[in-house]
Amino acid sequence: MANSRGFFRALSWANQLLSYQRPSWQCTSCKVTRSAAFRTSRRYATTSGEASNKPYYVTTPIFYVNAAPHVGHFYTMVIGDVLKRWRTLTGDNKARLLTGTDEHGMKAASAAGIDTQTFCDQNCKTFKDLAHAANLDYTYFIRTTEHSHKDAVQYFWEMLQHRGYIYTAKHEGWYSISDETFYPQSQVHLSLDPATGRKRMVSIETGKEVEWSSETNYHFRLSAFQDRLLELYKTGFITPEHYAGDVVKSVSSGLSDLSISRPVQRLTWGIPVPGDSSQTIYVWLDALVNYLTGAGYPFPPGGGSHLGWPVDVHVVGKDIVRFHCVFWPAFLMALDLPLPRNVLVHGHWTMNREKMSKSTGNVVNPFFAIDRFGVDTMRFFLTFQGGLASDADYDNAHIIRDYKKYLQQGIGNIAHRTIGCAKGKLRTYILNATSGNSPAQSHDMAYQSVLEQLATKVADHMEKLNPRAAVQEIMAVILHTNKYFHNSAPWENPDQKQRVIYNVAESMRITGILLQPFMPNKAKEILDVFRVDSSKRSLSDANYGSDADYGESIEKRIIFPPLVVEE
Ligand code: ME8
Ligand code: MG
Repeated sequence: MANSRGFFRALSWANQLLSYQRPSWQCTSCKVTRSAAFRTSRRYATTSGEASNKPYYVTTPIFYVNAAPHVGHFYTMVIGDVLKRWRTLTGDNKARLLTGTDEHGMKAASAAGIDTQTFCDQNCKTFKDLAHAANLDYTYFIRTTEHSHKDAVQYFWEMLQHRGYIYTAKHEGWYSISDETFYPQSQVHLSLDPATGRKRMVSIETGKEVEWSSETNYHFRLSAFQDRLLELYKTGFITPEHYAGDVVKSVSSGLSDLSISRPVQRLTWGIPVPGDSSQTIYVWLDALVNYLTGAGYPFPPGGGSHLGWPVDVHVVGKDIVRFHCVFWPAFLMALDLPLPRNVLVHGHWTMNREKMSKSTGNVVNPFFAIDRFGVDTMRFFLTFQGGLASDADYDNAHIIRDYKKYLQQGIGNIAHRTIGCAKGKLRTYILNATSGNSPAQSHDMAYQSVLEQLATKVADHMEKLNPRAAVQEIMAVILHTNKYFHNSAPWENPDQKQRVIYNVAESMRITGILLQPFMPNKAKEILDVFRVDSSKRSLSDANYGSDADYGESIEKRIIFPPLVVEE
């Protein structure tokens, strides 16, 4: 055993846990207690006293290193980062974000003619570079080739085995080499290959070719979890709910046990089954356990939550819902580990309505997009237009359009005009308003109430795990502010000027604070321009009239310059 120390530690913890945990998966009495507990809102629920203090924990999928990252991966990373940064904005400075790479690149490495580990190292670096270029505030970048991960996976396997969830059997079924997974009969169909005119069997979900295959390997008793999974889906485990329907349908129609190893001849690059070097652990079991590794698994007795377990939000694309919403909770249920609270599923970025995908090759290089438009413009665009419940079509013309409308002629223009109109006296306007010396008309009051409600509305969207609705809410206020400013014409109405200038200055301060998770650098620039103190930039400061101290010695600065590139 290559890793005897880790393995020994794993076994000794396994024994300690086994000594006080119920070893059987047939127990029906605990089904009842669990499902009752699950029926309460789980999004913010805690599972134990200790867990109530646990760090908020967000994850992205770990990405395959078999090709370079594209805008789809960039998008998922940004959504994860926005959720994590939002949490920080609410005052929680322990929030964690995990991202990383799934290093099963054997086929691609041999095609590239290089040593597999070198290939993984090179491509992992590109994903890490993307995480940096995207300005991800991640806590840990995990690689499935790390020793700690291998230890965690083997320990996890041992635990499943000890509890009687693993058995060997001959496995026959439809296997997809490119998806590295078996599909049940109900999930494959005959399809015509447009390229060759040949009829072939493909997975309905991914469209990838499958072949009939027969082998002896290890199986996981997935079928034992049907009822508990169906109970879990009633608790809002899957967001948006839109995606839950298909999962419920497929689980209700019956679950077959899952093959969780492959003969080593077929899969040499991977983690060996403990005690049986003729078999390699199935890539998806290996990959999913990364979320536990990232939280310090194997947990010491009674521990686990200090690094965030259970996960608060798994952000995933709709292509990997089955793995995260069926297999993963079932594995965790088998070990009585606390379950993730939410899987946030998003739609796909398409090009000409076809999924952006490395296998099709219709991909946008995220590094080029960031170079061309800037990281914050891209983060804004992806969260603003990216689809959660539906797909979104990628188009440079849309980035340019949205940049001009919301950033350059929106925020940039408002900031510029506010400062210009105040003629060097913005501080006086702020002082007057915050000391009550600022008469308001009814349209000022109507606009003020929009600003007063903004933080709550945005927070509400974020609590519902909808960053798209949150940023759309902010942008609606930006458009509203431009109209209010224009219609009030403070330059023509000196008696109304005081209130209007204060209100638009507040719009910049409040939207600047709320935009920090989405556009960290640009939001900072906005708040710096208005001289908002760095200690007054958290969610609780995003209330109308709550900061009397900003606006000293302001100078005009162009925050959103015209784009040098046009379509
Ligand atoms: O599935 N639009 O890795 P992967 C939006 N290693 N998001 C997209 C996208 C698109 N067109 N294409 C990809 C794997 N993504 C496994 C995951 S996790 C334990 C193991 C994003 O490299 C989206 O998040 O194929 C999708 O789920 C993920 O990349 C798939 O990445
Ligand atoms: Mg994929």
